[in-house]
Amino acid sequence: TGAPPSYHPPGVPPETRTSPAADGMLHFPPGFLWGAATSAYQIEGAAAVDGRTPSIWDTFSATPGKVHHGDTGAVAADHYHRFADDVALMRDLGLSAYRFSIAWPRVQPTGRGPAVERGLDFYRRLVDTLLEAGITPVATLYHWDLPQELEDAGGWPLRETAERFGAYAELAAGALGDRVTHWTTLNEPWCSAFLGYGSGVHAPGRTDPGDALRAAHHLNLGHGRAVAAVRAQVPGARLSVSLNLHQIRPLTDSAADAEAVRRIDAVGNRIFTGPMLHGRYDADLLADTGHLVDWETLVRPGDTEAAHAPIDEIGINYYNPTWVGADGPGNSALHGTGHGSPWPGSEEVSFHQPLGPVSAMGWPIDADGLFELLARVHRERPDLAVLVTENGMACDDYPDPEGKVHDPERVAYLNEHLAAVHRALAAGIDIRGYFLWSLLDNFEWSYGYSKRFGMVYVDYATQRRTPKSSAHWYGETARRGAIPR
Ligand code: NOJ
Repeated sequence: TGAPPSYHPPGVPPETRTSPAADGMLHFPPGFLWGAATSAYQIEGAAAVDGRTPSIWDTFSATPGKVHHGDTGAVAADHYHRFADDVALMRDLGLSAYRFSIAWPRVQPTGRGPAVERGLDFYRRLVDTLLEAGITPVATLYHWDLPQELEDAGGWPLRETAERFGAYAELAAGALGDRVTHWTTLNEPWCSAFLGYGSGVHAPGRTDPGDALRAAHHLNLGHGRAVAAVRAQVPGARLSVSLNLHQIRPLTDSAADAEAVRRIDAVGNRIFTGPMLHGRYDADLLADTGHLVDWETLVRPGDTEAAHAPIDEIGINYYNPTWVGADGPGNSALHGTGHGSPWPGSEEVSFHQPLGPVSAMGWPIDADGLFELLARVHRERPDLAVLVTENGMACDDYPDPEGKVHDPERVAYLNEHLAAVHRALAAGIDIRGYFLWSLLDNFEWSYGYSKRFGMVYVDYATQRRTPKSSAHWYGETARRGAIPR
């Protein structure tokens, strides 16, 4: 019944039409990966077990005032000890894929030298359990937990960290490449660089715009080194990176607001898509930030080519669009409060949010933004397959007197966003899977345990898992391979 979308981004063939099948459902292609996502620090706990040493997030969360309520990932959802039950839960729900991250400080506690086999064994057991359950593993090499020793040596602003990351990727791929095909290098490098070293709201909590830009370049280089290392270790690997590209909208159609969009697109998106997808840094980005970093010294010959190592898939993490304007500071809370700026060179841009539905994070709910982002990456690199590596919603979930957790808002969110994915498929974009963030309620970084993104409720006092109504809905959707119209 719904009208076809009116938005046809350039480069995307006009869609044939998103129409329901005879059963009234919107069907996804056979083999589409119906997944859930997590990350190591957010769920594993067992922070000092089997040779693991502190990462920057252990240090940061133990620092008073950095994380809501003083929460840390020391225990989290205790997934390290409960992984078999968690995999059984995914199997019983009917999921076909699982995106998790490998903790660098479990595999290589100091960030250098040989691998710790006990640390790798955890991931071997996890992957074997997934495969036995018929669930495709998708492994992320870096979801923000840099070994503290590498931060002490300089962290991502130091070039050496990129080389260390390549060496760690080689170890991880060497150990797991016989059973893992899908490899993602970095998760949301924008957050690592600009929240970690710019605004300081993420670990390691530094606030130097030059360091943030240096970190971004070394994340690009590290990505390239990791792609090369995994490629060499794992024939047939499907390589990707997960980017939280900002879907940026101008506040008005003024030229000044268009300029604000350009600036934020440069330092929010093209700083990564430039090297990784096209092998270059755009001139406007270098000009906007040239007073903060000496790009000529930072970028050595061969670096952007290395960052451009061929990948097979692009991962998109999407939650909400971003509105920007030219006039004044706007609402600084929208781009990470308090400390430094996460937008080096673009501090004068203002951030805005129209009235409308929001999640428990206060993030606007807008499924068109997902369609537009999928169209953008397809337009830029039509040869790459696409994975939605994260999408989901925080809700104020609680168990009712019978112990059930009802989250109809999350069901509606998932349904709308999956409909946007379906529209993109109909428009000819090669989307291979969707990963709901998150399997479990977990440690939401600087918000600690106060925000619940899981489709499964976690009672942290008992570690009891209760699938929310969204988990039942999503499992049914995965088993059927279709959403209601
Ligand atoms: C982005 C991150 O990759 C993930 O770690 C985080 O929990 C979610 N989005 C929600 O903020």
